Amino acid sequence: MLHVLDHPLAAHVITHLRDKTTKPATFRTLCYQISLLLAVEATRSLPTVEKPIETPLEAMSSRVLAHEPLVVVPILRAGLGMVQPFLDIFPDVSVGYIGLERDHQTAVARSYYCKLPPVAGRRVMLVDPMLATGGSAVKAIDVIRAQGGTDLTLVSIVSAPEGVAEVVKHHPQLPIFTAALDRELNAKKYILPGLGDFGDRLYGT
Ligand code: PRP
Ligand code: URA
Repeated sequence: MLHVLDHPLAAHVITHLRDKTTKPATFRTLCYQISLLLAVEATRSLPTVEKPIETPLEAMSSRVLAHEPLVVVPILRAGLGMVQPFLDIFPDVSVGYIGLERDHQTAVARSYYCKLPPVAGRRVMLVDPMLATGGSAVKAIDVIRAQGGTDLTLVSIVSAPEGVAEVVKHHPQLPIFTAALDRELNAKKYILPGLGDFGDRLYGT
């Protein structure tokens, strides 16, 4: 289930993220902005409950988020850039970390770190800005599932059709939210047109 964010502000931010003249400081701000838009879009189905309140004028019943703590799991390192908006807008949020790094020759992701809070029975938002071959996302989803996580959503900024297909092949029901669905991967498994190496551009490496 792929959802591509369709909003003029998202298009504007993505264009500046792609632009190779955008410097890391601005890139980080843009990353925050697009991640905030994605966080809002990807949590549309969060449950709410009615709460009786009193406005200064009268009593009423109004909706609040059901007490269901959200878990945000960035795939290190680039995914870290997408965490802050979730912390800023959700009252109850726990953060877990999965460290994966693609080999420069093979593009196969190697796991180097994992620290997760309890995930069973919780809504887990897996965040990683680039969905290229899908290898990193599938590995991370498998880790979360192995720890009992069943309610998972993948949030990426730029996705390749190959990566989407790989995730759908392994996890057909899993919702994927992305801000851009690009054309294809190049021979080195980078997304075209893409925006280059997200982690490098985020952290100036
Ligand atoms: C990038 C990106 C994803 C992964 C996507 O990370 O942040 O995690 O590649 O590629 P895939 O879909 O082919 O697995 P990278 O491995 O470069 O590590 P970094 O975040 O530390 O830069
Ligand atoms: N990781 C990135 O940072 N960029 C790509 O295009 C592919 C994987």
